[in-house]
Amino acid sequence: MNKKSFTALLIITLVLSLFLAGCGSKPTNTLEKIKQKGVIVMGTSADFPPFEFHKVEGNKDTIVGFDIDIANAIAKRLGVKLEIKDMDFKGLIPALQSGRIDMIVAGMTPTPDRAENVDFSDLYYNSQQVVVVKNDSPILKFDDLKGKTVAVQIGTTSEEAAKKIPDVNLKQLNRVGDAFMDLKNGRCDAIVLEDTVANAYLKEYKDMKILSMKEINTEEGGMAVAVAKGNKELVNIINEVIKDLKASGEYDKLVDKWFK
Ligand code: ARG
Repeated sequence: MNKKSFTALLIITLVLSLFLAGCGSKPTNTLEKIKQKGVIVMGTSADFPPFEFHKVEGNKDTIVGFDIDIANAIAKRLGVKLEIKDMDFKGLIPALQSGRIDMIVAGMTPTPDRAENVDFSDLYYNSQQVVVVKNDSPILKFDDLKGKTVAVQIGTTSEEAAKKIPDVNLKQLNRVGDAFMDLKNGRCDAIVLEDTVANAYLKEYKDMKILSMKEINTEEGGMAVAVAKGNKELVNIINEVIKDLKASGEYDKLVDKWFK
């Protein structure tokens, strides 16, 4: 090898190694990105007690709930901080796909449709759809809902379930809390949502009751954590955390804390 080609080779090697080093510092997947930032960003819709809701004490407003505790356990396992972004439920999957959040912990049901766009962990809670009406409502069974105004949160499985009611007048809302305000003020006749969440709202809205109807229930139920497509490592860690929480008894403690 003459001196000229040796120098050329040296330069090529140098440039190539600089290029590779550059690639190495750029995270190639969510898990690396999270570890490098030292924070995992969870997206949620904090209108869903006891899973996630705003707790206001004096002038301090914090988002708390079962999902937040699960998310904190995930952050702890990764050795990073948890950051919470609160948004309308329908914005969560787009936010995950565009990388604005790293995971969705929002009582989200892993439906086949959603699974085309995001990856889901194992289920961490079970749930089913119920109907909430005023105590003095003439609505008693599924047929009574015909032609009635039924409020649901946009983009949820509750919306899908309510669409099955014949001649229904759907009132699609961004926030679950608005549905309860509407029912209270006579702007709708019923709400379709998940049983556990209905129970939590009814602690505040004493003039309402829960009706379970087999016709309204979907085969799809339960809740899982969503991550961007292809993040196998992150899903595996989340599944381990769920499994460990259950095995250690911590999970039961959380259930007692939030669902009693
Ligand atoms: N489980 C239902 C769904 O996945 C409703 C979830 C609503 N969650 C919320 N945080 N508002 O569609």
